[in-house]
Amino acid sequence: MSTPSERAWALFPAGSPGEYNLPRELTVVLSRGQGATVWDTDGRAFTDFTMGWGSVILGHAHPAIVEAVRRRVALGSNFAYLTDASLELAEELARAVPCAERLRFCASGTEAIAYAVRLARAYTGRSHVLKFEGAYHGANEVGIVSLFPRRLLAFPQGEPTSAGVPASAVADVLVAPYNDLRGTTAILTAHRHDVAAVIVEPLHRCTPPQPGFLAGLRELAAELGVLLIFDETVTGFRLAYGGAQEYYGVRPDLATFGKALGGGYPIGVVAGRADVLDLVSEDRLGEDRYVWFASSVGGNPVSATAALATLAELRRPGTYRHLFELGESLRAGLVSVLMEEGFTAQVQGDGPLAAIVFTDHEIVDYRTAFDSDRPRARAFLLGLFRRGIFLNPMSTKLYLSLAHTDEDIRRFLAVARTTLRDDCRDR
Ligand SMILES: Cc1ncc(COP(=O)(O)O)c(C=O)c1O
Repeated sequence: MSTPSERAWALFPAGSPGEYNLPRELTVVLSRGQGATVWDTDGRAFTDFTMGWGSVILGHAHPAIVEAVRRRVALGSNFAYLTDASLELAEELARAVPCAERLRFCASGTEAIAYAVRLARAYTGRSHVLKFEGAYHGANEVGIVSLFPRRLLAFPQGEPTSAGVPASAVADVLVAPYNDLRGTTAILTAHRHDVAAVIVEPLHRCTPPQPGFLAGLRELAAELGVLLIFDETVTGFRLAYGGAQEYYGVRPDLATFGKALGGGYPIGVVAGRADVLDLVSEDRLGEDRYVWFASSVGGNPVSATAALATLAELRRPGTYRHLFELGESLRAGLVSVLMEEGFTAQVQGDGPLAAIVFTDHEIVDYRTAFDSDRPRARAFLLGLFRRGIFLNPMSTKLYLSLAHTDEDIRRFLAVARTTLRDDCRDR
């Protein structure tokens, strides 16, 4: 009789749902989650530090979401049309997100970004997009250019991290160094007649923007008639209720959301300027700038209901203070443990996010992290996993939720100490 892990390896490439890269012997199959704990099919408990890649910000099976969804599913799960739930959600998003004059729903961050880029190209009549080296903007053809480049090419040349992408799609993406306003200005100015948009993760993976960087991008984009897109798939409703645009005080032309907003249910949102979003109006079909935007399940009432329940919890007083305190205690604890155990590393992140990079110098972009000790990072993450911390070993990003407790952080730090001692010293 095969185990669930063997059955998974028989059918899923690398036994993985996508970008997990666990060795065969560590592959588990999950059966349930509650709060910050998940259980596999053998009943083994893990403390979850990935939380559905950040899509479950309230904690697994949060009673407010469970109850709201339970009531909603009985009313029909999808109409591919406006519902009371999606309308109410759109109104709440317009209140919460500074740039959201108009919005449309789809089903994921990947889709939302593809639409935002298409909108920017249609609006400006230009083809190129400037992104920052090492940024992820979903599995679309912009997101995978220079996501994990193996060679440090001369900017703005990009390298596809995935095969199967036409050279023309790669050539349409200009790659710039994050946090380098001068370098970005030079690239944008040189290509000003071709660039439709600058797309940025305001918090680049876990690397914070240096003072003035995002405001500088805002100014530069406005000056050159280029649209500024904030990919808020991670930062949205996580760094602040109004996302990174509220947190950093910089308003983009377009912003995309997903992950935390849906409370674990599929959702994607493109929000932004009315004159740009209105290009998707179907009464413009046939016009030169009309943009096709369609999603069979986007804005479905079950996801919208889960999102409304999530937002109601996030609006409670003290929520963000609590999320930030958890994140600070995890990051500060990690700094101490690493130092006490004699490891040189950088602990990055903000709000309820953290990442550990084994390098002795400050990280401001992809290149400053490029020579970090990646085998050690992998040994560390796999060691944590082996000892009952559920995380994604392909990325060092750790996600906290409102369900995490000080005890969860203490447990994580104790496991981190053991892992550093036993798995990371000699490789
Ligand atoms: C910054 C960022 N943008 C976009 C995405 C893609 O979102 P999704 O997985 O919902 O397609 C991710 C996913 O990790 C992300 O981190």
